[in-house]
Amino acid sequence: TKKHRVAVIGSGNWGTTIAKVIAENTKANPDLFEETVQMWVFEEEVQIPESSEHFDRGSALCTKPQKLTHIINSIHENVKYLPGVPLPSNIVGNPSLEETVKEASILIFNLPHQFIEKACDQLQGKILPFARGISCIKGIEVSDKGIELFSEWIGRKLGIYCGALSGANIATEVALEKWSETTVAYDPPSMDSSQPSPQGSPKTSQINLGEMSGRAEDSSKKVKMMALPAEYPPLSHENVKKIFHRPYFHVRMVDDVAGVSLGGALKNIVAVAAGFVDGLGWGDNAKAAVMRVGLLEEVKFGKMFFEKSVKTATFTEESCGVADMITSCSGGRNFRCAKMSVEKGMSINEVEKQELNGQKLQGTSTAYEVNGFLKSQGLEDEFPLFTAVYNILEGNKKPEDIPKLLEAPSKYR
Ligand code: NAD
Ligand code: 13P
Repeated sequence: TKKHRVAVIGSGNWGTTIAKVIAENTKANPDLFEETVQMWVFEEEVQIPESSEHFDRGSALCTKPQKLTHIINSIHENVKYLPGVPLPSNIVGNPSLEETVKEASILIFNLPHQFIEKACDQLQGKILPFARGISCIKGIEVSDKGIELFSEWIGRKLGIYCGALSGANIATEVALEKWSETTVAYDPPSMDSSQPSPQGSPKTSQINLGEMSGRAEDSSKKVKMMALPAEYPPLSHENVKKIFHRPYFHVRMVDDVAGVSLGGALKNIVAVAAGFVDGLGWGDNAKAAVMRVGLLEEVKFGKMFFEKSVKTATFTEESCGVADMITSCSGGRNFRCAKMSVEKGMSINEVEKQELNGQKLQGTSTAYEVNGFLKSQGLEDEFPLFTAVYNILEGNKKPEDIPKLLEAPSKYR
């Protein structure tokens, strides 16, 4: 029998944290997984900062900037995107996407969403055809054809099944092993757990990847997917959970991929709004009001555009919904940068550049993408908070206008 090889595509703040979680689990479950976890690193030259405990004036590694993969593989720390957190030595930073995914049966996608398209272009034809994916990306794909979940978009692009992981998970807290919960949605067609295919004839199945809103027809969403060969351990909920579950990182498994993906994406817009009102010094009540409306708009968006698959309970009962809303509006990067932009009178993009050392905000781009889609559907007024954030980012409205903007009546409530 074979073991699963897990590869992580991405090595930012969350990408590196999830690689750490997984590498601990591959080591703890040798019956299921190969121990080594390849992690794709978008290569860059990085100087180990003098504040790092690894800084040593006499060491060649510290005298000039080095390749980030070399640093990660030498001192087992991602000094740029997850400084101060020791990484398990079974994580291998790899600058080649193709080598990272070689023979990997489980692919974990964890990149800022603006970079996923290029990565998937490079991955086409390079992955095992029966691989399974999990997207940890908090964002949605918007094109002139409509709006799509990244899990489904990745699945369609690569011809594989892709689930989703999302939760109230500020990366640094998870990396420091402070307890949190997360939600993993994994619901492949039943052939995975059924009979193995006859020798020499890979079992395939045509699956429909849910709905894409704003599209006239769904035919491009049919994916021909190959069954997992019988020599691999089955990817049941129990085994998928073992990829991520740690004593400090509690996984709840669900089937609602759309709800999990949308919660993670849309709360980033709400966190920007929470940052705006906090930046005005309006206090916790104002922030709570923004969160309340934000949660309602998440549910409404899911029900309106992904009605066949989304469950309201995913937003109201799971970590990926209400809990992620709360944590992101308390200490997330979108919240912090939006708050600082109001306090300092700077644009949020300037704050991002100045404060995040290369990390990327997702809330601003998601606000634009969601607005472009809502506009195309004539539904901007139905989502006053999402629309307000877009208009404030565009300079059409001010953070002070938020209470008035949220009063707008709705036709569909
Ligand atoms: P990040 O914000 O740390 O982004 C930086 C990453 O982008 C680095 O790995 C960098 O190498 C890479 N990058 C820069 N330019 C690139 C390019 N041209 N091509 C490819 N990669 C490039 O990233 P992150 O925090 O790991 O975020 C990944 C996803 O995880 C996002 O969708 C985010 O919303 C989600 N998420 C983040 C957190 C968190 O607390 N950081 C928590 C949960 C989920
Ligand atoms: P930020 O990207 O705003 O930091 O949000 C982190 C997150 O998703 C916490 O669950």
